[in-house]
Amino acid sequence: MAELAVAELVYNPFGFAHQDDPYVTYKRLRDEAPAYWNPELEFWALSRFEDVLEGFRDTELLSSAGGIALENRRPIGHSTGFNQMIEFDPPEHTVLRKLVSRVFTTRTVAKMEAEIRGIFTGYLDEVIESGRAEVVDDLTSPFPMDVISAILGVPEVDRPALRANSDKVMIREDGVFAIPREAADGMLGLVAYFMEDLPKRKAGEGSGLINDLVGFEVDGRALTDEELLGFCILFIIAGHETTTKMVANVMELLSRHPDQKAAVVADPALIPDMIEEVLRYHNSTQYMHRTLTRDFGIHGQRMREGDSVLLLIGAANHDEREFGPTAEEFNIFRRPERHLGFGYGAHFCLGAALARMEGKVAVEEILRRIPDYEVDHQAKVRFHSSNVTGWRSLPVTFTPGPRAGTAGPADG
Ligand code: HEM
Repeated sequence: MAELAVAELVYNPFGFAHQDDPYVTYKRLRDEAPAYWNPELEFWALSRFEDVLEGFRDTELLSSAGGIALENRRPIGHSTGFNQMIEFDPPEHTVLRKLVSRVFTTRTVAKMEAEIRGIFTGYLDEVIESGRAEVVDDLTSPFPMDVISAILGVPEVDRPALRANSDKVMIREDGVFAIPREAADGMLGLVAYFMEDLPKRKAGEGSGLINDLVGFEVDGRALTDEELLGFCILFIIAGHETTTKMVANVMELLSRHPDQKAAVVADPALIPDMIEEVLRYHNSTQYMHRTLTRDFGIHGQRMREGDSVLLLIGAANHDEREFGPTAEEFNIFRRPERHLGFGYGAHFCLGAALARMEGKVAVEEILRRIPDYEVDHQAKVRFHSSNVTGWRSLPVTFTPGPRAGTAGPADG
């Protein structure tokens, strides 16, 4: 025990062992080094709730324009070839965000509930008679891609390839900072798809949000190709990756907390609170990267203009200073006033209402139709990425049931 207590505190988000259980390191960061410097990878990490919240809030001090992933960082203002609003600061960010915010309001998303439920029901129907499923491939991965594609107007036939490329973008190697070839190929695949697609939309083909974007104006001009490409890629990756991982995280966590699972099965009205607790306790997004715009001091450390700063959402959401002595426990009855699962401030997740709706619908259907599902914890395989937490494979078994579409009297 004494040995453990003096072990050097090293936080490397790329280490697979760290990703297996980041919370031990996060606690040490909060307690021992709330402004932590990693000399090898040259970044700061803020881990206490108040510091992370303030980091998100102060966009003048901490810019998103140097990249929002550590491994994609670059000097502020250097373009990547496509302009995503998530990598702009106000006021430019505000203008772009206004263009699309109405598509993702709670009210607009509420109108999509029946369609979203229909999509998930279709996937559950495919496995329900067999009594077994591979949660990620069969249920949680195709589902958010279908939903965001329906919003964007991406044809069904193109979705599997987009999904495969989006998944590839997240792949990282154990302990390695550099972006692997596979991930770069995934991004190239996404760019190539939309480069070919956008001229067709401009020529009037297709329908959906991409066509709307083509017609939108900012400051009296149409969006540039870099901005259009930026929106498409941001929506595909943000709309798919985190929500996919979140729903599988819900299933895995509930299976390890049978009492809480039983409570939610008995009272589905608890599902929205349960989802908030999963977003707090084990969020699919673990950190965001920012770049300092000037020298800054905090917790006795001197940070320099241009330095990288990680805002550790995963650590902040376990902070006893905010959530009390039980912060490290999963408790669906906690009902905290706030958490940082969707970030905070100017860049607060645009898709939060959509993600909450997708999560609610998926979990309602799962717990209604296969409430006794059991996760094969020996066979599950983690998805390794520096930032996104989730499962690559999550096999489950359950009592078989009828397809929703064949249960009616007409099918006898
Ligand atoms: C559980 C699911 C999700 C989680 C945990 C999540 C998390 C986040 C976080 C932490 C941010 C803040 C980024 C920053 O401050 O730099 C963010 C931004 C964003 N998210 Fe999500 N997200 C989820 C689902 C979605 C969905 C379904 C969409 C679909 C449209 C989406 C679209 C976006 C966009 C466009 C931004 C950038 C907003 C801006 O720059 O103003 N997200 N998300």
